[in-house]
Amino acid sequence: MIFRQLFDETSNTFTYLLGDSASGQALLIDPVQGKEARDLELLAQLNLTLSWVLETHEHADHITAADKLRTLSGCALATPNSGQSQGADRYLKHGETLVCGAIELEVRHTPGHTAGSASYVNHAHGMVFTGDTLLVRGCGRTDFQGGDAAALYASVHEQLFSLPSTTRVFPGHDYKGHRESSIAEEMAHNPRLGGGRSLEAFVEIMKGLKLSPPRLLNQAVPANRRMGAPDPFEQLRSDAVGVPQADLGWWGENKESVRLIDVRQPEEYIGPMGHLPGAELVPLDTLIHAAETWDREQPLVIVCRSGARSNRGAIALKNMGFAQVANLAGGTAAWFSSQGARA
Ligand SMILES: [Fe+2]
Repeated sequence: MIFRQLFDETSNTFTYLLGDSASGQALLIDPVQGKEARDLELLAQLNLTLSWVLETHEHADHITAADKLRTLSGCALATPNSGQSQGADRYLKHGETLVCGAIELEVRHTPGHTAGSASYVNHAHGMVFTGDTLLVRGCGRTDFQGGDAAALYASVHEQLFSLPSTTRVFPGHDYKGHRESSIAEEMAHNPRLGGGRSLEAFVEIMKGLKLSPPRLLNQAVPANRRMGAPDPFEQLRSDAVGVPQADLGWWGENKESVRLIDVRQPEEYIGPMGHLPGAELVPLDTLIHAAETWDREQPLVIVCRSGARSNRGAIALKNMGFAQVANLAGGTAAWFSSQGARA
């Protein structure tokens, strides 16, 4: 197996290249946006074709190159099915094996750093790619993105420390100049998780860290949940009061990743014009109350009959702190006449 450990010095992220010279197939684990040219050049020099990009989790400190690499090389994208990402070609379940030529990686869900984190085990060569679940003499933080110190402790002990002790550990990051470790080394010397440290002691350590949020958190997490694809809301023109205006074509392309809220009255929703597929009925006078419990990062498109009430709804939601809200210009009426035109 051809193996390369690559590094992004801006985010201290390791990217791993695994290649099978017989079939010419290769995969990258956790490639970083901005490093696509380096990674593709190296693959070409090694006579390898990129078949897969794998993510270990939705990173908060850099944006993945996954979507760009798919555009440039035609590779497929895989990510754990326990996360919130959309736009992958395959969602990896715990226990399954990803095959790339002669390379096999077993998927192990290892939640704790994030709720959706996974590690990838190559049994044939005794290697594990741990993302931020287990670092050399450390571990990823557990204070956001569904992080959970007790879950990380269980993941490391049950899924990683159970591997053969000679297994080589390849982490997602390093900040102190280390490159790799082994299961035996981390079991003995990891200051947070090794040396037989108890769950209670580990949870206390993680509680006491008091880290500041990563610089790129608010950009990186939403972008990584799109596998690094550009923000579709940035393509939209805004009206005079700053509400992005979506048309039916945009909605058709993005409807899998946006929530569509219909702010008309119930009798209109079930009336002769009907409603767009997937539209959730939340009448305008109940919108603010209903939206109090919604995820502020969830992209929303608001629709009414012709676009006036929905624009008011979109302004209200923006004022509540929703990051991505657009108005469906022309509303249900435009959709209804487009249906007629097609029939
Ligand atoms: Fe991370």
